Amino acid sequence: MSKSISTRILSFLFSFLLLGALAFAQDNTQQGDGATDGTAQTGGATGGLSTDAAVISKGEELFNANCKQCHAVQTKVVGPALAKVYDRREIPWLINFIKYPQRTIESGDEYAVALYKQYNQYMPNHDFLKDDEVVAILSWVKKETDSPTKTKDVTTTTEDGQNLPKESNSGLLVAIVAGLATLLIVVLAVLAMLGSVLTKYLAKEKALSEADKVILNQKIEWGKILTSRGFVGIVTFVFIALVLKVATESLITIGVQQGYAPDQPIPFSHKLHAGQYEIDCKFCHNTVEKSKHASIPGPYVCMNCHNAIKTTSPYMQQIFEYVEKDEPIKWVRVHNLPDLAYFNHAQHVKVAGLDCTNCHGNIKEMEVVQQVSLLTMGWCIDCHRKTEVNAKGNAYYDNILEVHSKYSKQPMKVENIGGLECSKCHY
Ligand code: HEC
Ligand code: HEC
Ligand code: HEC
Ligand code: HEC
Ligand code: HEC
Ligand code: HEC
Repeated sequence: MSKSISTRILSFLFSFLLLGALAFAQDNTQQGDGATDGTAQTGGATGGLSTDAAVISKGEELFNANCKQCHAVQTKVVGPALAKVYDRREIPWLINFIKYPQRTIESGDEYAVALYKQYNQYMPNHDFLKDDEVVAILSWVKKETDSPTKTKDVTTTTEDGQNLPKESNSGLLVAIVAGLATLLIVVLAVLAMLGSVLTKYLAKEKALSEADKVILNQKIEWGKILTSRGFVGIVTFVFIALVLKVATESLITIGVQQGYAPDQPIPFSHKLHAGQYEIDCKFCHNTVEKSKHASIPGPYVCMNCHNAIKTTSPYMQQIFEYVEKDEPIKWVRVHNLPDLAYFNHAQHVKVAGLDCTNCHGNIKEMEVVQQVSLLTMGWCIDCHRKTEVNAKGNAYYDNILEVHSKYSKQPMKVENIGGLECSKCHY
């Protein structure tokens, strides 16, 4: 027997409503992706900077990948706070400076020299960025200056460290979906009313054929609606699509722990020790220039000072216990590359002369140590592509440098000495 027409219509409408509801739920988890939904402000340029949501979100991405370890918008980190930097300097100047800071400083540019005197550190070249990418970063900086996203400070703990949800600009989409859903419900109600009126009217009619009576007496079969092929098909499709989406998203971020900042057994503060009291990193991490790993200090290192300082603090009692038991303090590891990757501190700190801040951010400001960098393969490679080898005063590089300068006018980057070879980083 064929399904009644109302069953078909209802199953169709229900599927549609379900889709609408799912789209609505999806949309809420996807805030910020709505750059193309028409609510984005159009790219009216203010001094060469863009207010286009797509550009700004690109800028944020680039900032997080290249600048975040040293800069924040509202606060000074390793480099200056970037708020209103576009008012301090012209955009073309900024583009040039961001791409070639060292060259700008060495050219004697007054502003740049003054900055350098104040911060006493070069920022790395960003010559791999295109001009419009720098503009995108600055556009994001402007947006953050004018209306800061409420994120916690870099130096404080962020629980999961993922980029916090961006402001919703998908209001329009939500409104459309909600509107459609309401419309559907109204249509459903009207249809139901029409149906019952017609049924009542027909029921009074005497001259009905048998076939008509069967149709007339049919009840809406909810079971059939839910088991109808169309409905089941659509539900299955939506379910599979959702599972795939969640799976790919979580696979991409597996093992990426940017922002990880676990609580430690003793609340040791780098801000206090390395910042306020200016204790040298190497005093505690004393193998960082000599070996692959930077050592984590045991309780005896703490005792150098704490046998006299703050001895009554309950935390010191904890440290004394470790000393008595002759056990290391059970610090929770923050940075951790997978075993398949080889990373050597001595090579980066001693040979390359890199400052800890390049990879660890401004530890001196951290109450709780946080993983600031991505620590992905792309992150390592990225730096090897853009960083010059520190060959000055290193006789080991004299020959390579000579050969390199024969074939290339570009400065010798880490990639030129094999920094992109798989076997250098993989056992
Ligand atoms: C390793 C740390 C580091 C990184 C990474 C870094 N900077 Fe800087 N930045 C500095 C320091 C330090 C200064 C101060 C100038 C100097 O000493 O060279 C600075 C200065 C600046 C200035 C001038 C600020 C002012 O007040 O005029 C701008 C603009 C800037 N950086 C933008 C960027 C952008 C954009 C990125 C990412 C593409 C970036 N920086 C990446 C350390 C860094
Ligand atoms: C007084 C000793 C001391 C000094 C000085 C010190 N640290 Fe630490 N550092 C520790 C201890 C203890 C830990 C482990 C507990 C923790 O993670 O907070 C640690 C952890 C770290 C970690 C995270 C290690 C991990 O588990 O991945 C980094 C990175 C780090 N320190 C960098 C630095 C840098 C950079 C400096 C200099 C600016 C510095 N430290 C100065 C004692 C010190
Ligand atoms: C070129 C990037 C880079 C620089 C520069 C750097 N580190 Fe690290 N650091 C890392 C990476 C990557 C790890 C994770 C290593 C691992 O898991 O094997 C790490 C881990 C650590 C750890 C945890 C123990 C370990 O070795 O696994 C400490 C402590 C530490 N770094 C301190 C320092 C200090 C202090 C400096 C500056 C003197 C410094 N780092 C400079 C990238 C860097
Ligand atoms: C070079 C000296 C020095 C070393 C080494 C040192 N500290 Fe400290 N520590 C200090 C000073 C100074 C203070 C601040 C005392 C004050 O506030 O009066 C302090 C304060 C602290 C406090 C806060 C205590 C409280 O109750 O407020 C803790 C916790 C602490 N240190 C842990 C450690 C640990 C753990 C180590 C070893 C990894 C360590 N310190 C190594 C000098 C040191
Ligand atoms: C901040 C920039 C920077 C980052 C980030 C960085 N490196 Fe390096 N790396 C360098 C520089 C500069 C050298 C050149 C050192 C030298 O002169 O030998 C180097 C050299 C190396 C070498 C030796 C290459 C050779 O041919 O001698 C290896 C291996 C290496 N890095 C691994 C890694 C790994 C693994 C990571 C990521 C976990 C990483 N690096 C992240 C800057 C970086
Ligand atoms: C500069 C260092 C460096 C070089 C060069 C490098 N890798 Fe990696 N690679 C890493 C690091 C670090 C990781 C771990 C990244 C993570 O945990 O997200 C990694 C991870 C991987 C993984 C595992 C991926 C995953 O998500 O677990 C594979 C496969 C890999 N690399 C292959 C290669 C191949 C093939 C090459 C040569 C074309 C290469 N790597 C060159 C540093 C490097």
